[in-house]
Amino acid sequence: MKTSNSSRYHFCSRLLHWLMAFGILFMWLSGQVMMVGLEDGSDEEEALKALHASVGIMLFLLLLVRIVVRFVIPPPPLPDTIPAFDRYNAKMGHFIIYVFMVLIMTSGQVLALSQEAGLNWFGLQILSQTEIAGVEIDFVENFHFILATLFFFAILIHIAAVLKHRWFEGEDIFYRMWFGSKSTDK
Ligand code: HEM
Repeated sequence: MKTSNSSRYHFCSRLLHWLMAFGILFMWLSGQVMMVGLEDGSDEEEALKALHASVGIMLFLLLLVRIVVRFVIPPPPLPDTIPAFDRYNAKMGHFIIYVFMVLIMTSGQVLALSQEAGLNWFGLQILSQTEIAGVEIDFVENFHFILATLFFFAILIHIAAVLKHRWFEGEDIFYRMWFGSKSTDK
């Protein structure tokens, strides 16, 4: 295993990364169940939709916090052992993930606003149903769904990149975003 001079992401960044990763996993699973597992308009579908929207509001707020944290506390530099091409890919890959999150979560809030329940957080009404001028809801719905599907593949590539460094190049990148000790320390 190579040694490196890299350090970790700040604790806040790590916490936000994993809170959001689990939240997004829930959003994908609940989205899939709503689409294929439940009857349209059934009580179960309505209940899951409300939960999906409530968790979506929290993720949207976490994303705003995360973007601010990203500017205030920049990521630690990658280890010197990572080639320039991989550094560029990591930068672009992370940027694309942020763009996906902004687009998916913003379109999710627009969709929630178009529903009868409006922007509702676990029963607490934040904004009532609103029609946004010039916004075609069917388009937003397709946009939200297609981006969420593409995002799934982007995350698979993200995970594969981390594993590639760990398994094929002997560089423990995962440590940078985790809470335990580095694999090279064991
Ligand atoms: C929905 C799931 C996920 C999302 C949205 C996500 C998003 C991100 C983003 C945006 C960054 C860049 C952080 C920044 O520079 O501000 C990042 C970094 C990172 N992620 Fe994820 N991630 C997810 C899942 C995972 C998983 C499952 C792993 C485990 C393999 C992982 C491991 C890492 C690591 C190790 C880094 C730091 C890379 C580096 O050192 O530059 N992520 N992630």
